[in-house]
Amino acid sequence: MKIDILTLFPNMFSGFMNESIIKRAIDEKKVTINTVNFRDYAKNKHKKVDDTPYGGGSGMVLMCQPIFDAVDSVRTEKSKVVLLSPQGKKFSQKKAYELSKEEHLIFICGHYEGFDERIRSICDEEISIGDYVLTGGELPAMVITDSIVRLLPGVIDEQSHLNDSFNDNLLDYPTYTKPRNYKGMQVPEVLLSGDHEKIKEWRDEKRLKITSEKRPDLLNKKVKLNKSGIKKNKNKIYIDDVKNIKVTEVKQTKKTGVYKLFKDDAIRAITVLSPKNITGYKLKGKSSSNNLNKILIVKESFVKKIALKNVRKKVDILTYRFNLALSSEDDDESTSRVLGEAEMLKQMIISTYANYLGSENLDKIIKNINYLVNEFVKAKTLQNSFFTKQDQEQRRR
Ligand SMILES: C[S@@+](CC[C@H](N)C(=O)[O-])C[C@H]1O[C@@H](n2cnc3c(N)ncnc32)[C@H](O)[C@@H]1O
Repeated sequence: MKIDILTLFPNMFSGFMNESIIKRAIDEKKVTINTVNFRDYAKNKHKKVDDTPYGGGSGMVLMCQPIFDAVDSVRTEKSKVVLLSPQGKKFSQKKAYELSKEEHLIFICGHYEGFDERIRSICDEEISIGDYVLTGGELPAMVITDSIVRLLPGVIDEQSHLNDSFNDNLLDYPTYTKPRNYKGMQVPEVLLSGDHEKIKEWRDEKRLKITSEKRPDLLNKKVKLNKSGIKKNKNKIYIDDVKNIKVTEVKQTKKTGVYKLFKDDAIRAITVLSPKNITGYKLKGKSSSNNLNKILIVKESFVKKIALKNVRKKVDILTYRFNLALSSEDDDESTSRVLGEAEMLKQMIISTYANYLGSENLDKIIKNINYLVNEFVKAKTLQNSFFTKQDQEQRRR
């Protein structure tokens, strides 16, 4: 990936580019970051890049010409031009993932009062890093670049960002390191148990708990109960205290993970989504009696939507792993590992999600994975034959 940052203050980026993970990513050629001083493109005698606003008002406004020309000097067909502005769409982890797949990004850092409105016409996107106003776009450019670069294949251990806050709309779980006991504060026993399944379960639960405490908006789940303990919205019914409604029985049906909740003499059966299959939702308590303490009931059409979203996310991760394997050096091992993962993903989707997705969606997704596998194998074969040829060439010399 290549990133060009158009700025009047390139020196601001020297610390950013010469330390830690960003420096390593640059040194290892995972990313190229250039700063372009658009003052160098000013055509007037004094290299002036701003002027007073038409119609009066305070502050100086960046002029079109230096920025248009600076963009022209670096733009190609594959570039995405991003204007940094407090008026833009708010930046998010989702956006970071999206941008990390681009080949070439051009960031325009505004300064002073702002920029000539016509500059917007050469931009593909306008991004803000939050609802506050900074003196210039340099810090936003660094914030966005940092969050993108760490997502590039091979920059950091991919597991560490797959669990990061905001993936799956959940915050990260708590972490501990040595010593086990610090001033009387102990590391939770489960983390010392060596039981990976239990640890994963604990972490998943913590992610959910922390998110509902710190950022309930992420779960779209801040619930105010009415008298019966039920809160309705278009797709979901939340029941926070099942004791308040008369649940006579909760049964798990043949479909894996789907629960039916029988209310008042089995008048109505409601489908309940199992938490095991779809992250972000929780069914607590035993499924055999009415001693549940938290249930989320979801409309079936909504279940389909969520299932699709989750499966697509998993396919995205697989695509990411394919890319990683293509750039990896331990060739055979990473190839067979990622092909194994693709097979496992297919099996998992069929066994876990088939009932939710419907046959048409399931078919499309499996075809999509098969297509990805074929493309990957083709690319890998090509890569191998290229390296073999290079090898032979070298030996001949
Ligand atoms: C002082 S600001 C201009 C603010 C402008 N008058 C407005 O209210 O929209 C100068 C430059 O800093 C950058 N900037 C300031 N706050 C930002 C934010 N929250 N996100 C992204 N860029 C920001 C933009 O490039 C902007 O052109």
